Amino acid sequence: MGAVISMQRRRSTRRDRNDLRQYDDLMTQWWRPEGPFAALHWLAASRRALVPAATDPGQILLDLGCGGGLMADTSAGYVHVGVDLTTSALVHARGHGLTAVRGDVSSLPIAPATASVVVAGEILEHVHDLDAVVAEICRVLRPGGTVLIDTINDTRFAGIALVHIAERLPGGPPRHIHDPSLFVDATRLQRLFAAGGVDLDVWGLRPSVRDYLRFLVDRRRSVEMVRTRSTAGVYQGVGVKVDVSGAVERSPS
Ligand SMILES: C[S@@+](CC[C@H](N)C(=O)[O-])C[C@H]1O[C@@H](n2cnc3c(N)ncnc32)[C@H](O)[C@@H]1O
Repeated sequence: MGAVISMQRRRSTRRDRNDLRQYDDLMTQWWRPEGPFAALHWLAASRRALVPAATDPGQILLDLGCGGGLMADTSAGYVHVGVDLTTSALVHARGHGLTAVRGDVSSLPIAPATASVVVAGEILEHVHDLDAVVAEICRVLRPGGTVLIDTINDTRFAGIALVHIAERLPGGPPRHIHDPSLFVDATRLQRLFAAGGVDLDVWGLRPSVRDYLRFLVDRRRSVEMVRTRSTAGVYQGVGVKVDVSGAVERSPS
């Protein structure tokens, strides 16, 4: 197993940054909480608390760039639809109960105003046309629906901390998975969402230092992501799409 993982790591380091084939190289790793996608498990747990309870049967939670479906346990009450370009990831997502759809998040194969919740976790910093992706999120979100995002800010700090340092740390992102030129300026993102009728609230996120030290020791326990005032690194956001009546529901917090 160790040999397989190190072979996969060696293979993925030969890829260009943000090359989607890295997810095929790492396809056996999605559901290993101590593996190269560890931080995605921590982030999925942090998103979980923000998903509003479903109010009607059949409501759709649309999970963009769902990967292996790590949000699977969070979607009780919703029809959980995952969209991703990586077929090998969709196999895992489907195995964990998602309705898995192969598609590009910049051109969603989804009808307008169908999703009650759209989750865009660790996907926005991987896309080449951010304007199109945000426009698509706003198009498929029903009025009064909630959008949850987490992504990486386009700052010097994020480039150093999350690429040059974190890629070399246990629990950090796999080598070369991020291209810092695609990192997402938080103010720009809020402006794009506002144009689509969503007032996006944002805050920073970092791993709990205590949990991370424990993780270094036993690689088993999950690491809580805690909120920070600074959005210079990883940040999270929640917004609700303006209702046709002009009323806006309160964001969950
Ligand atoms: C960092 S992973 C995040 C996975 C998942 N959201 C999570 O947090 O566990 C990014 C995912 O986005 C997918 N992806 C990247 N670009 C995409 C695009 N343009 N359309 C759809 N999926 C895309 C990749 O295949 C990968 O599964």
